[in-house]
Amino acid sequence: MDSVAAQTPAGSPAVGAPAERREGREKVTGRARYAAEHPLPGRAYGWPVAASVARGRVRSLDTSGALEQPGVLTVLTPADAPRPAEPDDPTLRVLQDDRVPHHGWFVALVVGESLEAARAGAAAVRVEYAAEEHDVLLTADHPAAYTPERANGGNAGRRLRGDPEAAFAAAATRVDVSYRVPPLHNHPMEPHTSTAHWDGDRLRVYASTQGATTVRATLAALFELPEERITVTAEHVGGGFGSKGTPRPDVVLATMATLRTGRPVTVAIPRRMLPAATGHRAPTLHRLRLGSGPDGRLAGLLHEVTTYTSRVKEFTEQAAVPARVMYAVPHSLTEHRVVPLDVPTPSWMRAPGEAPGMYALESAMDELATALNRDPVELRIANEPDAEPDSGKPFSSRHLVECLREGARRFGWSARDPRPGTRREGALLIGTGVAAATYPVLVAPSAASAEALPDGTFVVRINATDIGTGARTILAQVAADALGVPLERVRSEVGSTDLPPAPLAGGSSGSSSWGWAVHQACAELAARLAEHSGRVPEGGLRTLADTKGTADAESPYARHAFGAHFAEVAVDTATGETRVRRLLGVFAAGRILNARTARSQLVGGMTMGLGMALTEGSTTDPVFGDFAESDLAAYHVPSHADVPDVEAHWLDEEDPHTNPMGSKGIGEIGIVGSAAAVGNAVHHATGVRFRELPLTPDRVL
Ligand code: MOS
Repeated sequence: MDSVAAQTPAGSPAVGAPAERREGREKVTGRARYAAEHPLPGRAYGWPVAASVARGRVRSLDTSGALEQPGVLTVLTPADAPRPAEPDDPTLRVLQDDRVPHHGWFVALVVGESLEAARAGAAAVRVEYAAEEHDVLLTADHPAAYTPERANGGNAGRRLRGDPEAAFAAAATRVDVSYRVPPLHNHPMEPHTSTAHWDGDRLRVYASTQGATTVRATLAALFELPEERITVTAEHVGGGFGSKGTPRPDVVLATMATLRTGRPVTVAIPRRMLPAATGHRAPTLHRLRLGSGPDGRLAGLLHEVTTYTSRVKEFTEQAAVPARVMYAVPHSLTEHRVVPLDVPTPSWMRAPGEAPGMYALESAMDELATALNRDPVELRIANEPDAEPDSGKPFSSRHLVECLREGARRFGWSARDPRPGTRREGALLIGTGVAAATYPVLVAPSAASAEALPDGTFVVRINATDIGTGARTILAQVAADALGVPLERVRSEVGSTDLPPAPLAGGSSGSSSWGWAVHQACAELAARLAEHSGRVPEGGLRTLADTKGTADAESPYARHAFGAHFAEVAVDTATGETRVRRLLGVFAAGRILNARTARSQLVGGMTMGLGMALTEGSTTDPVFGDFAESDLAAYHVPSHADVPDVEAHWLDEEDPHTNPMGSKGIGEIGIVGSAAAVGNAVHHATGVRFRELPLTPDRVL
């Protein structure tokens, strides 16, 4: 590997350079400590007991067998667990009563001297349930479906412009199609884990989370402790994909267990319990109606989404929202209907809303192109809007057309024979497909401090979370440029609530939100240094910035990143197996802050989209009421052999209306649209349109 210094020649900006992750060596040598890896003296381990009915009550819970197991210290049950205050998030109300709202809900926690002891103890807990009839099946016509006022992200549950039904009925060319995206699981490499212990009267927690600031606030409210007496550390986090965006039961259980035992306690939610306990992408049923004139310009668009939520909490996957952003259309309906069922609570998974929504919209656009006999790239360009269709706001920047054209050029799209089912290699049918991508620019206020040290180096401090994205490296780059110093003279400290408070790593908003505060702190520090003629006074010099009131100001612009995916697939007509040969994305996502980590994020997102298209899918078993695929042996994320050639490119785009860096977010847009590009390529290969994901051999054959 080349060194950071070699990548940033003197005088060139640090922002944009492909700087290596600063913690990379620690991670690959195993020195980086994750939440379960802090060797505290006397540390004990918790293992949850998960409900085995989908609805009902705990009738009796016998812990005697568990307590006889060697090494078992105690069992926390709904009868005797500590009674924290009511949480804002009802999924954190664990072990408080005998109600079972879904299969996999935690009904006890066994604490043992070792992980093995706790696990053996959990297996020996005898639970009897008073089971009730449950309903876990999502159907488009479910009688309990309703339109929520707000879907996830504060988006309106329903938006109507003009008379789309009439416009659709009168359109020369019409597409009326339904798609289904199954439940999907986040399954980060590191499970949801917390280690809690008391250090005098201070509660210290090592947590695997996307936002330690929220974890601390939640613990303070639940356990009625002042925030100043709690430190939550999240120095290294092995992924989250949204499922660690909110505190999860592990941190509540670990804190309860340390209260009970007085010992440090680690609770790592076992892999097979993650799907039911830590959120998932809810399944979505889509009805898409697109009507266009003979020129291909959309006259009416209706995107109706039906999804589910749990009995515990309302969460509505906002899958119809991207249709409000993408294409010029005078008449449109975008609506969500949500059905409360006895299912585990869904939540954020990488690009909630946009990922399934753009699968459906971009598949339907491909179907419209086929119906019109138009090139799908050109059809999209023909529907490019002047302003955001739903809000009427001007775009802060929008280079979707350029992404489509650049992607087509790099991919070699012009050589494509548009007729489906015509490219054959023996038993293989070859096809190519395209789809667009979009993701909103989100930003939240943040604080950050910057310090100049007498030795000529600098430290920026911020409770940002590096969930594997390279955040700590990127923030040092932003700081270096704001200070006007070489990157190697800047250190960044992240991942602790003892640092200035910052919002979570979520909604692709981290770099924008944290970078804004870091930029401001460093710009102020540079100005202060200039007052001292560049000399650091004895004792150093320090600034603290807070972007509250600026970063959260409403923008007069519609702010989104855009992109275009191109896929080539080979479909085996003997086995039904689809393999992606090439996946190429071009993105316009504002200024790219680190070329190396940005490429990694985009390729990672695209790969997750490939999984969504071909291998990932979960099945809700109607009888036992939970997911049939609960581990990585059954839930298939793509392996290296599934991902032969993924290229991510971007345009030079600097958006003056987003933040001082001119950046947008890049963590999620890679997954948006990539599944549609693969699906559209499968149609081009075979001439058959599949409308239910994933495209596994049993469906395709
Ligand atoms: Mo992302 S699903 O907002 O962590």
